[in-house]
Amino acid sequence: DAGRLWGGRFTTGPDEAAWRLGVSTAFDRALWRQDLAGSRAHAAELHRIGVLDADELARMLDALDRCAALFVRDAFPFLPTDEDVHGAIERWLVEDLGPLGGKLRAGRSRNDQIANDLRLWCRDACDELVSLVAALQAALADQAEAHLDWLAPGYTHVQRGQPVLLSHHLLAYVWMLDRDAGRLRDARERLDASVLGSGALAGTTLGLDPAAYAEHLGFARVTENSMDAVASRDFALEVLSACAILAVHLSRLGEEVVLWATSEFGFATVGDAFSTGSSIMPQKRNPDVAELVRGKAGRVVGALVSLLTTVKGLPMAYDRDLQEDKEPVFDAVGTLRLVLPAMTGTVASLTFDRQRLAAASVGGFALATDLAEELVRRGVPFREAHEVVGEVVRRAESHGVDLDGLDPRELAAAHPALDTEVAALLDPRRAVDRRDSSLGTATASVRAQLARAREAVAVN
Ligand code: ARG
Repeated sequence: DAGRLWGGRFTTGPDEAAWRLGVSTAFDRALWRQDLAGSRAHAAELHRIGVLDADELARMLDALDRCAALFVRDAFPFLPTDEDVHGAIERWLVEDLGPLGGKLRAGRSRNDQIANDLRLWCRDACDELVSLVAALQAALADQAEAHLDWLAPGYTHVQRGQPVLLSHHLLAYVWMLDRDAGRLRDARERLDASVLGSGALAGTTLGLDPAAYAEHLGFARVTENSMDAVASRDFALEVLSACAILAVHLSRLGEEVVLWATSEFGFATVGDAFSTGSSIMPQKRNPDVAELVRGKAGRVVGALVSLLTTVKGLPMAYDRDLQEDKEPVFDAVGTLRLVLPAMTGTVASLTFDRQRLAAASVGGFALATDLAEELVRRGVPFREAHEVVGEVVRRAESHGVDLDGLDPRELAAAHPALDTEVAALLDPRRAVDRRDSSLGTATASVRAQLARAREAVAVN
């Protein structure tokens, strides 16, 4: 029972079913590195307050190093009687050091230990995810740069709306992802506080210094309240929120790749290495990777909802429900670790079809807004211009032509201001390049936007 950190006050050990419910080594072993870092800091604090002498500190740190070496080789000997990673490590230390191993628990609790471990883990996870996001942003920016003046249809409601540059469309995702990176950085910044010294919930009588732990573990500051420190998981919820929003953005991009790759759209081909075949239909070239990116978003959103639901209704301070915090966090981050590089590769592998994109960019009366805005420029109130052009569209539709196929006389009949000069505006390239404000789709604007995007990616 050495892997269980309690027992003295009980006459029997735990029931088998109760034990199986509570054991967490299967998943919390992932925190070994953080747990050992916390233990090193704690050993140093115990030395400072005189609980460990210099020799004991040296032997303790040495044992912690040997313990780490076992984990690195995936050879740490977990026992079925170990309740959690903290209990397993203490049991191992006692086997290794004798009674000295039992000194490390003074002044701390698994309640502050686990909060510390998960904060450290989340801190690294945020850094890692931000750099994976940056790689995807770079792949999108590369594609934007490689297709800088290519026309594409811009959609609302998946109905053609106005022509855009393909690069403008791709860069939209770079900015979405940039806010995702920002959210991860914000979450990291807020969770960067040390909880050790909180003990079970109230602090300790031993004179342990919270600031010393923060210093040792590289936390930016200490938490202000020991009860908040052991009870709160909003730091993990913020990481999960950032993960969920990111996963949803990736899902939207995945959905677009799926659409672009259909023969109906035919805008892009996914590279061989990111496509899959069919076990029965020899001709198939399926965008499974993009579909999985879309599908995996569900479990990341689920992880957020799961932890929100766990935390809701918990009274102060620590409650064992909080043990349910780890798996959603590990799963969400682990999922994004898979998804982000796969999406980066998929984006880099895309081959776009210039002809089909250009043809689609003009279809569906996509220049109707340009016509209406030209009328505005000629003094017509927009309300009237909208009606007039709507009628022009209706006429063109009844002849089975687009706006540029309409007889100029019919344009003029709709409104005297619709002269031949206006008809010359019915060109997607002109339509794109006239939208030349900083956020618009004009080639010069998009070139400047691309430069700003590159700068934003560089700091991620
Ligand atoms: N394994 C627990 C967790 O993950 C920490 C143990 C705290 N248990 C307790 N009975 N105080 O949150």
